[in-house]
Amino acid sequence: MTSDTTPIAAQDQSALPEDATQSGAHPDDAEHAGERSLHRIVIVGHVDHGKSSLIGRLLHDTGSLPPGKVEELEKISARRGMEIEWSFVLDAFQAERDQAVTIDTTQIWFKTGLRDYVIIDAPGHREFLKNMVSGAASADAAIMVVDAEEGVREQSRRHAYLLHLLGVRQVAVVINKMDLVDFSQTRFDEVSKEITEYLRSIGAAPMMVVPISARGGDNIASRSARTPWYDGPTVISALDGFHGHPGVGAQPLRLPVQDVYKFDARRIIAGRIESGTVSVGDTVLFSPSNKTARVRSIEAWPADHGPETAAAGESVGITLDEQLFVERGEIVSHAEKPPKLSTVFHARLFWLGHKALKVGSRYKLKLLTQEAEVTVRSIERIVDTQTLENASGDAVERNAVAEVTLFSRQVLGLDDYGDLPKTGRFVLIEDYDTVGGGVISMEGLPDQRQAITVKSTNVISVEHQLTADSRAARNGHRGGVLWFTGLSGAGKSTLAMEVEQRLFAKGYQVYVLDGDNVRRGLNANLGFSPEDRTENIRRVGEAASLFADSGIICITAFISPYRVDRDRARASAPGRFHEIYIKADVETCERRDPKGLYKKARAGEIPQFTGVSAPYEPPVAPDLVVDTAGESVGECVEQIIRYIEESFTLEKPGG
Ligand code: ADX
Repeated sequence: MTSDTTPIAAQDQSALPEDATQSGAHPDDAEHAGERSLHRIVIVGHVDHGKSSLIGRLLHDTGSLPPGKVEELEKISARRGMEIEWSFVLDAFQAERDQAVTIDTTQIWFKTGLRDYVIIDAPGHREFLKNMVSGAASADAAIMVVDAEEGVREQSRRHAYLLHLLGVRQVAVVINKMDLVDFSQTRFDEVSKEITEYLRSIGAAPMMVVPISARGGDNIASRSARTPWYDGPTVISALDGFHGHPGVGAQPLRLPVQDVYKFDARRIIAGRIESGTVSVGDTVLFSPSNKTARVRSIEAWPADHGPETAAAGESVGITLDEQLFVERGEIVSHAEKPPKLSTVFHARLFWLGHKALKVGSRYKLKLLTQEAEVTVRSIERIVDTQTLENASGDAVERNAVAEVTLFSRQVLGLDDYGDLPKTGRFVLIEDYDTVGGGVISMEGLPDQRQAITVKSTNVISVEHQLTADSRAARNGHRGGVLWFTGLSGAGKSTLAMEVEQRLFAKGYQVYVLDGDNVRRGLNANLGFSPEDRTENIRRVGEAASLFADSGIICITAFISPYRVDRDRARASAPGRFHEIYIKADVETCERRDPKGLYKKARAGEIPQFTGVSAPYEPPVAPDLVVDTAGESVGECVEQIIRYIEESFTLEKPGG
């Protein structure tokens, strides 16, 4: 189940083997339903730096090992002619776990006086990095183990970077095997400095660095007399000092639909609540289908009467007051705080694939229960996790981190990772294997919900009695949309007005819709936020399509910075939409600065100015490219006129 992103808590705990229960590998959840909170921690670090021993020791020192276990360990260790080896605790668990095919993720429980902890992924586990990247293991806090003798190694840095990428901010570093360096403060300071500097350089200062010996139990649960120079916390007090579990219950509702079951007349929508709460009577919204309904009941097994409310962490089945067709992959939310809808998003990605990730490559995306095919549209930045150097390039190699933009044909429901971590992360699959995972940023990109929402019902279209052909026959040319796109100052308006005049003189029916003009009237209520730009272009796309319908050649001059918006405009005028890229680089436009807006934008007076502080996505396959940086206005106009004459003019009968 390497590709499954289902968090482990969603799995049926009762599937754990009997023996594991007794061995402290799994507490009875009900027993902990009271005041005590549960913390999910992850232990990371380079191979052989002592993660397993630390876990064994943590279990022992917190009294979480079942009776007889220590004696058993002593016996095994003695048989092998060694001192007690704490990492054997893990081996013993592993052996038990191997018999339980249903458990794919190692999880080990222990408790302190304050709270309960689960180590959500044990080191040495083959899928360790994958689980972290995929969110199968999402931790509240982390312990990073560094060997006092060896110092910071490759995986120390990689794991540290990954923790930071995934937003695990509570990190305790332990410098282990202090016994091997005679509990030397000098050596501790050296290694401590090395790891702290690395963490600082990625913006993730550790909260504490603890000198320990997992073997000797130094500074694990109690202070060691062998480090009199150290006055910081022990590992246990460091853990207990971390903040409580962030309140996912208080966050907006996100309930990914896992399955829809048909039961007698009812349809039960089942899934695990990732954040927020849902109650009977709530109006819920499904994304991306954008349907709404009211929750009629929350089902419970095996009880007859389900609860009135269910909260984050619970697996539930809900029924609705009307029969909606919804499928696995949809996200249930409340209408007020829905996820965003988008076909494009930015991501910070950790790449695990043996084959490099490339621009144009396609992968299967999994985001909670949603699945879609995505294409890598661009790679903005590649980070070497060892040297932290930034590179650009069109391929991301294994173990590198990159900032990329991904595109999906199908609309996805998603959140910014910064807002809602659970719905803001995803994994990429290639050939049934998890090859990468990352976190989502929608910065600078529009929420497309408004643009794809159809609000009215009972609307039936009416047929015209006039055909497009008869209109074209009278005009001598077909109607259509010439969509000019490009930066402000690229020359869209200048060329559009010039072409309009020339075509009119030639007897064409032609009209220009210009950004600055339309924004004074039809779109006067819109600004320049990503959503407003999307709505701007949606309306203009629809209006231009009507002009084209009426037989007119409609030239539009709008920046229209987002590809998806232009694609949607194209879809509104199928078969007669021509995308014309009015091409000039930012430097050229800025030099021209006809309205003095670049100057203002650089001075910070215009927020979200395209090309300066807001993105522009150039066309991928424009029907015509007009290079205004390289050619004169006259030449550009000629080029466009020629294109129009070829594309729109009707063949003269017999001509
Ligand atoms: S679009 O991005 O939504 O397509 P549109 O073409 O309608 O923009 O309007 C662009 C014009 O508005 C520019 O030519 C410029 O004169 C003006 N403008 C004002 N603020 C901005 C801004 N933040 N970004 C881009 N153009 C702006």
